[in-house]
Amino acid sequence: MPAESFVSRLNEQIANEFAAHQQYVACAVYYDAETLPQLARFFYRQALEERDHAMMMVQYLVDADERVVIPGVAAPQSDFSSIVEPVSLALQQERRVTDQINALAGTARAASDYTSEQFMQWFIKEQVEEVATMSDLLRVVERSRDDPMEVENFMAREHASGEASDPTAPNSAGAGA
Ligand SMILES: [Fe+2]
Ligand SMILES: [Fe+2]
Repeated sequence: MPAESFVSRLNEQIANEFAAHQQYVACAVYYDAETLPQLARFFYRQALEERDHAMMMVQYLVDADERVVIPGVAAPQSDFSSIVEPVSLALQQERRVTDQINALAGTARAASDYTSEQFMQWFIKEQVEEVATMSDLLRVVERSRDDPMEVENFMAREHASGEASDPTAPNSAGAGA
């Protein structure tokens, strides 16, 4: 049985992941409206990943017979002053989530809940990738302020297809539906 302290923090994290989903949809829609389809596509895909993270956490709690509360989320930022701003916001968000994920692993360990600590390992690895991806993208988008086609070409080249499915990823609630 997962530790009570871990369960309540994981429920909070489900809200954070859904909020990240909404924020990335807002970023994608902004780029779509600016006719920057490659950046839009990247953020639509990131949004789906965040939803998936939330649903993996939901599945973990369902499997453990714990109560899951699907949260409401605060409205994301939808107006941006430049094509750089959504990416710098995303990088801040990924850094914040990394701290939250590490704190979750710490909560599990402090409660000697090693099963939950192990569940968090995949997310720790995922956050390393997401922070690296966003900080690379921030450098490229900053260089492309005067010529957004530069970042569009970069995205078409480097992020043409989504990530290959990861067999080590935890199961998501509803994935087989
Ligand atoms: Fe996430
Ligand atoms: Fe993320």
